[in-house]
Amino acid sequence: MNDEIIQLLSALQGYLSQVTPSDLHKLETPPILNQAADNDVLLAMLSALIEEGSIHQSETWAAHMTPTISASSLLGHLIAGLHNGNLLSPQIYPLLATIEQQTLDYLCKLFQQQHAHFIAGSSYANLEALWQAKQQCANSNIIYTSRAAHYSIAKACQILDLKLEFIDTDENDQLLPEQLLKACNNQTPLAIVATAGTSTIGAIDPLNDCIAIAQQFNAWLHIDAAWGGALIILPEYQSLFAKLSQADSICFDPHKAWQQPKPASVLLYKQPLKPMFDITIDYLECSPPNSLPGSRGGELFLPLWLTLVGNGIHSLQQQVQSRLQQAQLFYEHLKQRTNWIIYPSSTGIVCFHIDDSTDLTALVDEGIFSQATVSGEKVYRAVFADPITKSAALITVLEPYF
Ligand SMILES: Cc1ncc(COP(=O)(O)O)c(C=O)c1O
Repeated sequence: MNDEIIQLLSALQGYLSQVTPSDLHKLETPPILNQAADNDVLLAMLSALIEEGSIHQSETWAAHMTPTISASSLLGHLIAGLHNGNLLSPQIYPLLATIEQQTLDYLCKLFQQQHAHFIAGSSYANLEALWQAKQQCANSNIIYTSRAAHYSIAKACQILDLKLEFIDTDENDQLLPEQLLKACNNQTPLAIVATAGTSTIGAIDPLNDCIAIAQQFNAWLHIDAAWGGALIILPEYQSLFAKLSQADSICFDPHKAWQQPKPASVLLYKQPLKPMFDITIDYLECSPPNSLPGSRGGELFLPLWLTLVGNGIHSLQQQVQSRLQQAQLFYEHLKQRTNWIIYPSSTGIVCFHIDDSTDLTALVDEGIFSQATVSGEKVYRAVFADPITKSAALITVLEPYF
């Protein structure tokens, strides 16, 4: 490894644990000057940054879809930085190109798709999938998705000049297929976007119904599985995902529920990408890909590859199973002990509505829960993105409010 990095890491060790969370708001970052900053000031700042990120390393971290990163993923991240190759020139980096393809082949098999590439996040993936849909199906400019879909779908429609129409959901935030059918009969869509794991409560839309309706109207079917796609690794969820091979595109974010560092997202397609333009770039040996990303290297997939190869699939299955178990325990406990309205989901998010006079803002500020709205009600949201998050620890925090 680069000597400078080894020196930096060992110097950092001496500074770690010198900062407390309450110091973080008071710290001033060193100024950007012509001269390098003082080493001690810099190391103290880096250790403070590590302290800030350690908020995830707690049994009561349930605010967001941001897990701690496993050691093998961190190593992959570091190696990606040291390598810093660009796969726009794959012939220069044959090993990195082989690893990328091996990881994509594994994900294609898992998600029953034929083609895939890595991308920086599902916001970009949703945009690219709708861009492809627009190129391939010119029969309409209408996109249907549920009211609970991620806001990146609305952004993508605005960028692509597509008309977005929302379909109602049931009380558990799942798209209502009969409403979708009615809308399609009214106006044929260009594409239907189903969500497998909504951002607020983790609901999975009726995927098979959405697929069948899209086929009936010859529309593109995109599945945003950014969050819920993590479950595909478990044998017990195979029936839920049985018809994925019929979707036109699917996106999934290993950086949400597979303990990977950002950016780690994959966009998968049933058909090869349609050439969007005919350009040859004379400084590249190969033509640029038809996908959205330009320069890319191991940062998108080396952490995931090292997790899959280095830890094995069983370890990932256990990680997903154990966080789903904790979410279930949390749900059951709240159900037994309170009369709060609880919104469970199969993907590891539990939302709950308490009476309006109970205020958990202090717990939200500490990063324990987040706040959201479901069916017009203000709810608190517990996200089990990490097996470190424990139901018992969250219950202890909530005890004074029971
Ligand atoms: C369902 C869903 N889709 C898409 C996204 C966007 O993902 P990213 O933040 O990686 O762009 C999110 C983010 O939380 C999400 O929950």
